[in-house]
Amino acid sequence: MTKRPLLFLALTALLPFPAAQASDTFEQAKIMAGEMLYKQECRRCHAPDTDHASYGPPLENIIGRAAGTYPDYDYSTALEASGIVWTPAALRAWMEDNDGFLPGTKMRHIGIEDRTVQDFILSYLQSITTRDGSQVTE
Ligand code: HEC
Repeated sequence: MTKRPLLFLALTALLPFPAAQASDTFEQAKIMAGEMLYKQECRRCHAPDTDHASYGPPLENIIGRAAGTYPDYDYSTALEASGIVWTPAALRAWMEDNDGFLPGTKMRHIGIEDRTVQDFILSYLQSITTRDGSQVTE
C-alpha cells in the first residue's frame, strides 16, 4: 500500500508525453537545431538582433519583413529595390541560391540545398520573428 505512490511516479515518468506536449517538444528541437545551423551558416554575418554588431542586417522579425528595410542598414540597391517580402518560400529560395534568386546583392553566395536544413533554420528564424515584433519599424 505505502509503495503505491512511488510506483505511480515511476510509471508516469515512463509514459510518453501527451500529444500536444510532444509536438511542442518537436518544435523546440527544430528551433534548437536551427539555432546551431544558423550559428554555423549565418551568424558570422548576421546577428539575430541589434544588441550585437552585425555585418549583414540583423535577422530578427525577418519573416514577413519587406527586403531591404531594416532601419539604418546600408543595403545594396539590388536588395532595396527588389520588392521582395521575406516569406518562408522566399527565404528557402534565398538560402538555396541567393545569387540566382536575386543577383547583384552584397551577400556572398550560399547554397543550402538540403530542405531539412532550410526547415530548421526557418524554425529558428520564426522563433526570433515572434520574440519582439516592436523592434521593427515598417
Ligand atoms: C558572408 C556573410 C553572410 C553570410 C554567411 C550570410 N549572409 Fe545574409 N546577408 C549578408 C549581407 C552583407 C546582406 C545584405 C545584402 C545587400 O544589402 O545586398 C545579407 C542579406 C540577407 C537577407 C536580406 C535581409 C533584409 O533585411 O532584406 C537575408 C534574409 C539573409 N541575408 C539571410 C541569410 C541567412 C538565412 C544566412 C544563413 C543561411 C545568411 N544570410 C548568410 C551577408 C551574409
